[in-house]
Amino acid sequence: MVGFLRTSNFQAIAIVAAVLGGMTLASALATPAVEAAPASTSFKKQVLPIFERHCVVCHSPSGVGYKAIGLDLRSYQGVMAGSFFGVAVIPRRPELSPLISVLGNGKHAFKNLVMPPVGKPLSSADVETIRRWIEEGAPDN
Ligand code: HEC
Repeated sequence: MVGFLRTSNFQAIAIVAAVLGGMTLASALATPAVEAAPASTSFKKQVLPIFERHCVVCHSPSGVGYKAIGLDLRSYQGVMAGSFFGVAVIPRRPELSPLISVLGNGKHAFKNLVMPPVGKPLSSADVETIRRWIEEGAPDN
């Protein structure tokens, strides 16, 4: 009897799930593609230009940042390769990514580093752009 009840509960759950699934599919089909697409931050158009403006002077082969730790911020491959000490970007986990930690106000500083080490810090809009790109999976886009 108990076994029968369990079975019918499962069937009921399956029917409810199927109905809900059907409704979700129907509403997804009714939603225009533009709205359904997730917000996407472009590495090439939005993130790389920030590195080029503020970081590449040091984080490219002739710069002190590259010479010290091997971090090359001129390209997607360089960013994802990280430094001699490990990755700089952990896709979908901006809060764990050294690349974000060094940009903060020092509160979560990675190894007490703040980047850029001299001059003006990045604007909060620039930090947010990089953060969002990592949260979206750090794609090569
Ligand atoms: C004036 C030169 C300079 C500039 C500009 C600069 N960096 Fe650095 N960066 C360094 C140096 C030098 C180190 C190594 C410091 C150390 O380990 O003591 C470093 C280390 C880092 C690290 C730590 C990597 C690791 O694994 O230890 C990250 C991440 C980083 N920089 C990102 C950036 C970003 C992003 C920018 C631009 C917003 C930037 N840097 C701008 C010189 C610079």
